Amino acid sequence: MSVSSESKTFYITTPIYYVNDVPHIGHAYTTIAADVVARYQRLTGKKVFFLTGTDEHGLKIEKTATSKGMTAQELVDDVVKRYIHLWQVLNISNDDFIRTSEERHHRAVHAFYARVKEHGADNIYLGHYEDWYCVPCETFWTEAQLDDGNCPECRRPAERVKEESYFFKMSAFQQRLFDFLGENEKFVRPQSKMNEILGFLRENLRDLSISRSSFSWGIPVPDDERHVIYVWFDALINYLTAAGFPDDMERFEKLWPADIHLIGKDILRFHAVYWPTFLFAANLPLPGKVFAHGWWTVEGEKMSKSLGNVVDPEVVANEFGVDAFRYFLLREVPFGLDGDFSESALKGRINSELANDLGNLLSRTVSMVKKYRQRIIPAADTNSSHYQEFAALNEEVRAEVAQAVDDLTFNKMLAAAWRLVEKCNHFIDEQAPWALAKDEAKAAELDQVLYCVLESLRLLSLYLYPVMPERTAQMAIQLGQPEPTASAGPEVFAWGGLETGVEVVKGKSLFPRLD
Ligand code: ME8
Ligand code: MG
Repeated sequence: MSVSSESKTFYITTPIYYVNDVPHIGHAYTTIAADVVARYQRLTGKKVFFLTGTDEHGLKIEKTATSKGMTAQELVDDVVKRYIHLWQVLNISNDDFIRTSEERHHRAVHAFYARVKEHGADNIYLGHYEDWYCVPCETFWTEAQLDDGNCPECRRPAERVKEESYFFKMSAFQQRLFDFLGENEKFVRPQSKMNEILGFLRENLRDLSISRSSFSWGIPVPDDERHVIYVWFDALINYLTAAGFPDDMERFEKLWPADIHLIGKDILRFHAVYWPTFLFAANLPLPGKVFAHGWWTVEGEKMSKSLGNVVDPEVVANEFGVDAFRYFLLREVPFGLDGDFSESALKGRINSELANDLGNLLSRTVSMVKKYRQRIIPAADTNSSHYQEFAALNEEVRAEVAQAVDDLTFNKMLAAAWRLVEKCNHFIDEQAPWALAKDEAKAAELDQVLYCVLESLRLLSLYLYPVMPERTAQMAIQLGQPEPTASAGPEVFAWGGLETGVEVVKGKSLFPRLD
């Protein structure tokens, strides 16, 4: 047993992505955001379990595989590599990668299904499904929900489906969910999404068809092999599987419930209505929070294969740098709102914020230490007014960053860190170290000016590490400081931890300017 097994592990998830698509900036966005939270929590000493993965069953995959003359398993084994590869490229620090075609997941779905029946004999019943179905979205629709015969989500034609199906008695849990949301006002974030769900729950919930018999690429219904389990009933359970359900219930009890399910707004209803009712039926606790972020368009247009404007995150990362890309996605748009990706906006932020504000601050500071102090970082004078002033500012920044990570307001997290960047830049201009350096009587003063800026930069390498893990390691190296590592502990952001008497190392420019 590990040392801190008493404290609850912080458990965060991304959606498990469909493998029929190529991963694009939308998928990268959710996964990077989750990575930032995971890295931040680890940095402050928490144990973290960060899960991502792929959703591999369903009619769509079966159809694609058939058209390519492959088995479904062969197809998914091949395309899952794109996701695994991309997460490596983007420096994603997930602790597990779940695939719904794995054996452990089959066992979990069967155990969950049995558990739902155990807690209510009529929680699952056999009936007939007759309605509309969108294959690309794997979503059922009623006639009234259709938009001119098309799926209201993706606008592609829906199919008429009529077949025998098992149903989950979702309607039986409507009131309980409504009451739960009343008592857990932050269960769905942001608030606009909570309102949407409350509105949805004011209408009557229909029971949910949870099996299909017209295709076979899925997990069979226990005791009825003619049916496979509907992809969403299958997919959502991944969050339990990876936590150890049902194979290692001791581990499961330590991990579940998840603290945060991070998702896009397209799959809010599945996570904020279906999933809680499934968990109620199985008598399992609900996750702490479902956060639905907004939608990215590209140069003002919806991303689509047919428009040919799907942005490959690997291409962007190779051209502009992984960390600059990660920074841009989280800085550009308040988390929860929609955003637009454009190269000009990305370049703008790289040049102004990363190159000008942060990169220059580091390089001119290191140069000054080199020139005025033979590379050696001067000692602190804890009584100096500069020291006190910066320590106080850092306390504010630290609290703002913590609050922002808690609220998943990443742009505010970065804005808080930028208060230190801006303060240092003004401070250097005001104090004019080049002038102090000319006056022997001002040597102590110069020491404190340099110390405060260096210590701010060290703290910035920590505050920004979750977003830019690679560049901040470079910062630490240039500052002669240890690289940010996991489990530094809750005091990691305390002012005054700079190692002094060590040498700075002039390095390459952190963020070269782009033309
Ligand atoms: O829905 N902007 O998988 P999926 C922002 N398998 N985020 C976007 C985006 C965009 N333009 N496009 C995609 C599924 N996303 C199911 C999930 S979970 C138990 C099962 C992100 O491949 C966003 O996180 O369609 C969205 O929710 C997710 O990708 C949908 O991925
Ligand atoms: Mg989708």
